[in-house]
Amino acid sequence: MSGFSTEWLALREPVDHRSRSLALQSRLLDALARRPGAQQGRALRVLDLGCGAGSNLRALAPVLTGEQHWTLVDHDPALLLAARETMVRWASAVVDDGQPLVIDKDGRRIAITFLQCDLARELDSLLASKPDLVTAAALFDLVSADWIGRFCERVESIFYTVLTYSGSEHWSPAHAADADVLRAFHAHQLTDKGFGVAAGPGATQLMHDRFTALGFVVEQAPSPWILGPEDKSLMQALCSGSARAVAETGMVPEAELSSWLSAHRQALRCEIGHWDLLAVPPGLRAD
Ligand SMILES: C[S@@+](CC[C@H](N)C(=O)[O-])C[C@H]1O[C@@H](n2cnc3c(N)ncnc32)[C@H](O)[C@@H]1O
Repeated sequence: MSGFSTEWLALREPVDHRSRSLALQSRLLDALARRPGAQQGRALRVLDLGCGAGSNLRALAPVLTGEQHWTLVDHDPALLLAARETMVRWASAVVDDGQPLVIDKDGRRIAITFLQCDLARELDSLLASKPDLVTAAALFDLVSADWIGRFCERVESIFYTVLTYSGSEHWSPAHAADADVLRAFHAHQLTDKGFGVAAGPGATQLMHDRFTALGFVVEQAPSPWILGPEDKSLMQALCSGSARAVAETGMVPEAELSSWLSAHRQALRCEIGHWDLLAVPPGLRAD
C-alpha cells in the first residue's frame, strides 16, 4: 500500500493549494477553452491520477467553468473512502449520494467517480476513456522513467500536473548535516515506489522532454512550499518523514541524523521545491 496517511494529506492540502502556480493554472484554463465541445457547453471530463483524499479536485474544480465529471483514481481504498467523505463535507449540497457522487459546489455541478486501480498496471484502460484533461498532484516523483515514457505516448488530452518534487530544500536555521541528509533523501527518492526505480526529482524534466518530442506545447512553473512558523505541524511532520526515509538508506550516521531532526523540528522556515507542468496536445495549440 502507498503509505500516505489521510492525516499527512490533510496537513499538506492548504499548503499545496496556496503553492500551485496561478500563472500556469490560467494557461490551463486557456487550453481547456479550446477543447472539443467547450463552445457547446459539453461537460468537462477529468481524470485525476493518484487522487489521495481528493485535494487536487478541491483546488481545481472551483476555477473550472460548467459541468464537470471527475474520475478519481487511487490504489488505496482507505484514501478513496476518505476522498468521498471529504467531498461530501466540502460540497455546498449533495445532489446524488451514489456512484458517481454528484455534488453542487457554489453553483457548479460536479459528478465524481471513485476508482480503485493500480496505475502501474492499469494505465491503458484508464486512458482509453479519452478524458478532456488528465491531471495529478504530487504523484510523478513516485513513478519510473519507463512509466513516464509509456504514459506520455498514450496521453492524447491536455495534461496538467502540480507539485512534483524538484529536489531543492532549504531549511532555516541551516544545519551542518543538511547536504548529507539531502543527498541521502534523494537516494531514497529513487527507490521503487511500485513503478520500478522512481524518477524522483528528475520526473519533471523527463515529462518535459518526452511531451515536447511528441509535439505537445509544454510549460512548467515553480510551485515551492514556503513554510513559516504558522506551518509548524507540517514542517515537523515533513522533517520526521524525511529522517525516516534517510535512516532507511543508512547513508547518514544515526547521531548526525538525530541532531538534524531535533534542530529542524524547531525550524523557523523552510522551502521545498516543486514544479507544475502543463502539456497541450498538438491539435489544441493556440497558434
Ligand atoms: C503524495 S500522494 C498525493 C495524493 C493527492 N494527489 C494529493 O495531492 O493530496 C500520492 C498518491 O498516489 C497514490 N498512488 C501511489 N502509487 C499508486 C499506484 N500504483 N496506483 C494508484 N495510486 C497510487 C497514493 O495512494 C497517494 O494517494
